[in-house]
Amino acid sequence: MGKKKLVVLTGAGVSAESGISTFRDSNGLWENYRVEDVASIEGWYRNPGLMLDFYNTRRRELGTVKPNAAHIAIAELEKEYDVTVVTQNVDNLHERAGSTRIIHLHGELTKVRPEDRCNDRDGFSEESVFDIGYGEIHIGDLAPDGAQLRPHIVWFGEAVPKIEMAINAVERAGILLIVGTSLQVYPAAGLFRYAGYDTPIYIIDPKDVPVSDPRITHIRNVATKGMEDFKKILKSK
Ligand code: OAD
Repeated sequence: MGKKKLVVLTGAGVSAESGISTFRDSNGLWENYRVEDVASIEGWYRNPGLMLDFYNTRRRELGTVKPNAAHIAIAELEKEYDVTVVTQNVDNLHERAGSTRIIHLHGELTKVRPEDRCNDRDGFSEESVFDIGYGEIHIGDLAPDGAQLRPHIVWFGEAVPKIEMAINAVERAGILLIVGTSLQVYPAAGLFRYAGYDTPIYIIDPKDVPVSDPRITHIRNVATKGMEDFKKILKSK
């Protein structure tokens, strides 16, 4: 028999204990920046330099932090389960913790692409995407096709090309685990609704969760401790 399918949907909360700010908690990124300036396609057309600075800073910070025990615990689930991580995070901490199947719904901080290449349904025209590690891009940094480089990030106002891949994974999940997301941003926030009617859903978050559904068990804890609780629940089954 194959391994049971476990899908893990993560948000900024899974990386909080690594030292990356979440968006909507107090002192989160959206208290200090305007979303429409740094995370919308209109912001890019208005002031691309400001946006490049914002992502250059995020990228530099990413080079200084490490995966935490929650990322590692999620990667270790692969020993016993067929795990797909669907993450809203643009950091690379799941990869660095050892997870092997990761769907980045909102793009990846360490990658850039020419601004004239849109997020197509085949996964962002992957051939035009460059890995720049923790480096910077500036106005005037051009791709081989002569277009300005932009962060490989899904902004508000843009399509989410990998959503169908994520829906397929959730539909097939035997267990769905959700870690550290406020479930405020669609379409990611609606993904859990695609889980089977008898699929158990666990949500790890220290705060109240905004959804109620008979399939949901709320593990009210931070990600690192919540993953310990979750592993105990799996063992007791
Ligand atoms: P949010 O900042 O909206 O939510 C973070 C969630 O993590 C909240 O529910 C917190 O209670 C929880 N949290 C905080 N600390 C935690 C910890 N140590 N352990 C576990 N949970 C913790 O972040 P997201 O839901 O990821 O998109 O935000 C979704 C999207 O909105 C992001 O991908 C980003 C943002 O705008 C784009 O920029 C396109």
